[in-house]
Amino acid sequence: MPVSIKNKESIEKMRVACKLAAEVLEFISPSVVSGVTTEELDQLCHEYIVSKQQAIPAPLNYRGFPKSICTSLNHVVCHGIPSNTELKTGDILNIDITVIKDGFHGDTSKMFCIGEVTQKAKNLVQTAYECLQEGIEMVEPGQRLGTIGSRIQEIAESKRYSVVREYCGHGIGEIFHEEPQVLHYGIPNTGLALVPGMTFTIEPMVNMGKRHVRLLSDHWTVITKDRSLSAQWEHTILVTDNGHEVLTMRSDETF
Ligand code: MF3
Ligand code: CO
Ligand code: CO
Repeated sequence: MPVSIKNKESIEKMRVACKLAAEVLEFISPSVVSGVTTEELDQLCHEYIVSKQQAIPAPLNYRGFPKSICTSLNHVVCHGIPSNTELKTGDILNIDITVIKDGFHGDTSKMFCIGEVTQKAKNLVQTAYECLQEGIEMVEPGQRLGTIGSRIQEIAESKRYSVVREYCGHGIGEIFHEEPQVLHYGIPNTGLALVPGMTFTIEPMVNMGKRHVRLLSDHWTVITKDRSLSAQWEHTILVTDNGHEVLTMRSDETF
C-alpha cells in the first residue's frame, strides 16, 4: 500500500480524533500518582473514552492486546500492559493513548514522573521530549524521513543515550499503523519525501543504556535488554502546505 494522502474531510476527522486522544492524557494526568495501579488508570481512561468521548480505545483487542491503553513503566520501552502494579515515588511512566472517532485514529503518549524522581531519570525524560520536538519542527513538504530520523538519533546519542530500532513511528488514519515507517534513526537526505496531507506519528524511544530490547512472554511488553530506563513521547502530525500541524497537542505544550 502506498502512503495515503488525506483529503480535507479526512484531515478534519483526524483533527477530531487526535484532539480526543490528547484530552485523554489531560484527563488522566491528575490520577497518575503514587499508589495508583496502572489497571486503575486503564479503567479510568476506558470509561472516559467510551462514555464521555463516545469513541473507541484502539488498543483494546488490537491484535489481541488486552487493555485500552499502554502503560510502560521504567525499563519497559513500549506496549506495557496495565496491571495491578502500584506506581511508587521515583517511577517514570509512559501512557500511550489511541482513540478511534468516526473511523479515524489519534495516537499520542507522554511521560509522567511519579513523586521524587532522580535527576538522571528526569534528564532522560527531557531528552526524549527534545527528540520528539526537534523531529516535529523539521516536518514540512519535501523534508525526508531519513533526515528527521538522523537528527533524533543525533540528539539522543550526543547525550550518550541510545535509540530503539525495532519500533518506530507510523502513518495513521483510518488504519492504526499504516505506511510510512518513521524510524528514529537514519541517514540525512534519504527516505521518503513528505507531501502535504500525510499524517504520521513520531514516537522516539530513548534508552539510558544500550538500544537492545527484549519481548516478554506476554508477547506485548517490550523491555530494555540491560534493564536500563527508557522514555518515549508521541504525537500525531499532519504535513501542511507550508509546514506541519501537531494534531495531538495538549494545553501544557507549545510548538
Ligand atoms: N499506541 C502504540 C503506538 O504508538 C501502539 C500500541 S499497540 C497496542 O503505535 F496494541 F499495544 F496497543
Ligand atoms: Co503510534
Ligand atoms: Co501510541
